[in-house]
Amino acid sequence: MTAVVIVGAQWGDEGKGKIVDYYTESAQVVVRYAGGPNAGHTLVVGDDKLVVRLLPSGILRPATACILGQGMVIDAKVLLGEIDQLAARGHADLGSRLMLSDRAHMILPYHLILDGLRESALGQGKAIGTTKKGIGPAYEDKARRTGIRAGDLRDLARLRTLVEAALDAWRPTLTALGGDCPSAAAIVDELGPHAARLVPLLGNASRAADEAVQAGKDVMFEGAQGTLLDIDHGTYPFVTSSSAVAGGATIGAGIGPSRIDCVVGITKAYTTRVGSGPFPTELSDASGQHLRDVGVEFGSVTGRPRRTGWLDLPALRYARRVNGLDGLALTKLDVLTGLARVKVCVAYDTPDGRVDELPVDLIDRPDLARPVYDELDGWQEALSAARSLDDLPAAARRYVDFIAQGAGVPLYLVSVGPRRAESIELRHPFTAK
Ligand code: IMP
Repeated sequence: MTAVVIVGAQWGDEGKGKIVDYYTESAQVVVRYAGGPNAGHTLVVGDDKLVVRLLPSGILRPATACILGQGMVIDAKVLLGEIDQLAARGHADLGSRLMLSDRAHMILPYHLILDGLRESALGQGKAIGTTKKGIGPAYEDKARRTGIRAGDLRDLARLRTLVEAALDAWRPTLTALGGDCPSAAAIVDELGPHAARLVPLLGNASRAADEAVQAGKDVMFEGAQGTLLDIDHGTYPFVTSSSAVAGGATIGAGIGPSRIDCVVGITKAYTTRVGSGPFPTELSDASGQHLRDVGVEFGSVTGRPRRTGWLDLPALRYARRVNGLDGLALTKLDVLTGLARVKVCVAYDTPDGRVDELPVDLIDRPDLARPVYDELDGWQEALSAARSLDDLPAAARRYVDFIAQGAGVPLYLVSVGPRRAESIELRHPFTAK
């Protein structure tokens, strides 16, 4: 009976996979609204770990319909690979509960080539550190109106003329970067068998999502990446190319803003970032190494070690504002076990004085935006058995309360381990309003 948006409150990788999976126990529909195979959701099923990049996290629930919204960019090979991987694990029914928006844009081989060549050309220091999955160039094609949409897979002859037009537009760039321009014929030949499998999944996703909401179903709109990677609100230009914030759900899923009942932000109990760009609370010491080792902080798509740092409350307040957060899910609290002291950034010193919200356009200038920290006691106890806040050791409880108070958002859930059960549920978004 509720439409809930789940959004990353940091730089992505906040643990959305587990939280969406947890909440979708009661959701009938999950819609992904942005991004593409740059996202990696790690789902834990018993002792089995599964990383999906395109499919919504609700995909493991046999009763949940999943929609890939029009705000997404889709790599046909990746999507079919995931469908096959799930079929091999017994989820052979995906065809009947998965819809691909016919307006979602396709990632084609030239997007991948361009992403790689561009990053190399920018070089150390300027490269964005993209996932090289073709995301940026695919969204550029969309904005330039030379994109290929999933619905275009229905007619391969027409598709070929569309691909030719896109290649004409990209050829000068590809040539200047020293790349080869693939032929439209080869691209469409390769796509043909994929198209035959994807066309039966196509549908009017916006309508399906709206009808589900109107019918009073519980619908989850699953964000990808995170607030600070959003094309408009993130640490530009070190951002992804889509609207990762909660508002992106209305555009990328095609439902009106008035249909959304609740927005839940996900934050780790510390901060990580993959790729380049400013990260004021980054650590390069033993505590940072602890977070990387214990938190297994390696990119789920690229395998790159993630940069790690202390929690940034001003960044959370920024995320609260731009997403209109109703609640917070705090993940990976257990990773902090073993640290003697834990720091939290509580404000920034700027030329305009001390500010309590992330000064997003200043943070690439450490001389203009200096993080101010509070220090709290750490704890040594394992947390994974905690099922209520009262089960936490006193120092961990103080840390959690400090975050909720400092962020100014009520906690809905505290995650104390990767498994579904390793969670402290405080409030459920599908019953929160
Ligand atoms: P792109 O989305 O591949 O173009 O990469 C742009 C920036 O977003 C890079 O810093 C990536 O590392 C980052 N990024 C993209 N997707 C994710 C994600 O799912 N989690 C974390 N970072 C991401």
